[in-house]
Amino acid sequence: MTRHSLIIDCDPGQDDAIALLLALSSPDELEVLGITTVAGNVPLDLTQRNARLMCDLAGREDMKVHAGCDRPLVRDLITAENVHGSTGIDGVEIGTPRTPLQPQHAVDFIVDTLRGAANESITLVPVGPLTNIATAMNQAPDILPKIRQIVMMGGAMREGGNHSPSAEFNMLVDPHAAKIMFDCGRPIVTMGLDVSHQVLASRARVERIRALGNPVADAACGMLNFFSRHDSKKYGADGAPLHDPCTIAWLLRPEIFQGKHCNIEVETDSPLTLGHTAVDFWGVTDRAENAVWMFKADADAFYELLIERLARYGSA
Ligand code: RIB
Ligand code: CA
Repeated sequence: MTRHSLIIDCDPGQDDAIALLLALSSPDELEVLGITTVAGNVPLDLTQRNARLMCDLAGREDMKVHAGCDRPLVRDLITAENVHGSTGIDGVEIGTPRTPLQPQHAVDFIVDTLRGAANESITLVPVGPLTNIATAMNQAPDILPKIRQIVMMGGAMREGGNHSPSAEFNMLVDPHAAKIMFDCGRPIVTMGLDVSHQVLASRARVERIRALGNPVADAACGMLNFFSRHDSKKYGADGAPLHDPCTIAWLLRPEIFQGKHCNIEVETDSPLTLGHTAVDFWGVTDRAENAVWMFKADADAFYELLIERLARYGSA
């Protein structure tokens, strides 16, 4: 069994939160070295708090949680309270986290962790804007050989944008950071809207999670019920796409997904299409393939995995 050593970079967000719970449920396959947080769905003071609350919920108050960049590299911060609620994780009780916030800046944690690691040994899992990741790469280019792979959530091709007509939110918040990541030369697996919109948290699936009857599953249901209201109304679908957990699910069971090596470029200038991911799916340019673009997911297998792993919190 392959064991992955991860740093998860996130902006919780209900779907980030589910991704964290999925990752922390699977210590045999995933060694989470730390969780770094970034401004995105909600401002940084909330994303770092929300990540710590998920560590409390998962019984991992020992987890290293770091706060990172509170704004994008160039743009002003845009957030998504209309999707996630004012707390960022509406649908779950908000208290004061027991998991401490580490004093070290997230970027310095990423740099120091990678510098202390062997070549090609660390998997980065960014599921929010890429600001922390890009800042670490700019600050310490020597860390690049230490990165085994980057498994990220972001981008859109056939699905179109979710926060502008042509851009997915993580790409739109910080397109300049996303470009730095796509140009870094390390292996990248990209879970965009094309695949996350295939794994909808339908009412039936949420009810199966609720039937698990443990506190983590209950919290997940509360978050999913809130998170689903926006996209269900917007797309007329039964449930919200579980964007960020696709990255963790791929690490656990890559066979759930199908992807293709492509060139992916991010628009960083046009006011009309800023943050657009130009995915050269059919190889019509001579641009180098720099990522695997995921385009198909087995939704039933995805939820079987998620439900089986959330059930583990009941036997803890
Ligand atoms: O567009 C979806 C992405 O933006 C997800 O990562 C969600 O959490 C938000 O960050
Ligand atoms: Ca996210």
